[in-house]
Amino acid sequence: MSQDQLKLLTPTTVGDIAVKNRIFLAPMTRSRAGDGNVVTPLTATYYAQRASGGLLVSEGTQVSQEGVGYPATPGMHTDAQLAGWRVVTDAVHAAGGKIVAQLWHVGRQSLPVFQPGGGLPVAPSALADQGRAFTATGPVPYGVPRALETAEIARVVGDFANAARNAKAAGFDGVELHGANGYLIDQFLRDESNVRTDQYGGSVANRIRFLAEILDAVIDVFGAGRVGVRLSLPVSRPGLTDSNPDALVAEIAKLAERKKIAFIHMIQPVGGVMFAAGQPLLSPVIRHFYHGTLILNGGYTRETAEAAIEAGEAEAIAFGVPFLANPDLPARFATSAPLNPPQPAKFYGGGVEGYTDYPALA
Ligand SMILES: Cc1cc2nc3c(=O)[nH]c(=O)nc-3n(C[C@H](O)[C@H](O)[C@H](O)COP(=O)(O)O)c2cc1C
Repeated sequence: MSQDQLKLLTPTTVGDIAVKNRIFLAPMTRSRAGDGNVVTPLTATYYAQRASGGLLVSEGTQVSQEGVGYPATPGMHTDAQLAGWRVVTDAVHAAGGKIVAQLWHVGRQSLPVFQPGGGLPVAPSALADQGRAFTATGPVPYGVPRALETAEIARVVGDFANAARNAKAAGFDGVELHGANGYLIDQFLRDESNVRTDQYGGSVANRIRFLAEILDAVIDVFGAGRVGVRLSLPVSRPGLTDSNPDALVAEIAKLAERKKIAFIHMIQPVGGVMFAAGQPLLSPVIRHFYHGTLILNGGYTRETAEAAIEAGEAEAIAFGVPFLANPDLPARFATSAPLNPPQPAKFYGGGVEGYTDYPALA
């Protein structure tokens, strides 16, 4: 594959967003926000260094204090947070890039220490996540969350709308709803984590209602052509399974098609740490019902990504760890240059090291 044959390097559009190539930056939490969950100028450097990607998806960014689950992660619900992000979007745009904000509410993957008033984290149902929370003193089990009252759900939807307004004011090109990895929206989608008996639980139509209402709210702010959703339904773990992921993803794809949203970003691992034998292949189901941009992610390499684009399996591929460690990933793919190895010990927290000091090609 020579550079001028590489389909990954060809431009396309993601809804209303024109992008120069199909090598996207996957959202990655870096836990380097400062006081008040405000991003720093170093964050602007980090994203601007990666502006040669067709579309950058920001790290998960909380829509409210209730949505916080980890230390030093940024928010999108205060004026100071918005001002911090404005520096980031200006830097990315000045470097010729496009960036969408990943809007995040962790739901039950939180701890009382992060909650307003030290209360219980919220979730669709009072069922604990079976993983471990990261804290300054080491991993701890998650507690049983409080099930949201039916009447409260509109308030949470409103928090997403407010965050979308802030993202727009901060200069983002659009938003990606974080509907993946077992966080609040994902908790509503799957029938093991959502056992509600109101209009937000039970049937697939009911379990996707929360997502549908958030989509409507953020489309009101940005227009459908600048709104997408991230899903990870092929990936499950104990406490976070669904009895019929094919049917669930089909209804989400139909919803996305009806609302004409810009993209679906699906973690459908082909390798790497998120891959496991037996994961259902759901991206063709999305393809069948949804005709907008499909972004795939999960363990892709230059070769497997190019093959996926060539075969028409997706319009673009998002790269996480390879892009984290290689700020000039498109240039390296163009020339088949070797890649910098990642430094996982520096993924979360710290300063410049392992963040903005990965070298570009000479
Ligand atoms: C350090 C790190 C932080 C991550 N943070 C997020 C996040 O904030 N939101 C999200 O949706 N996924 C997050 N992920 C998952 C990545 O977006 C991606 O799905 C995963 O790394 C697999 O892609 P890759 O094989 O290209 O790295 C994170 C992954 C890593 C390595």
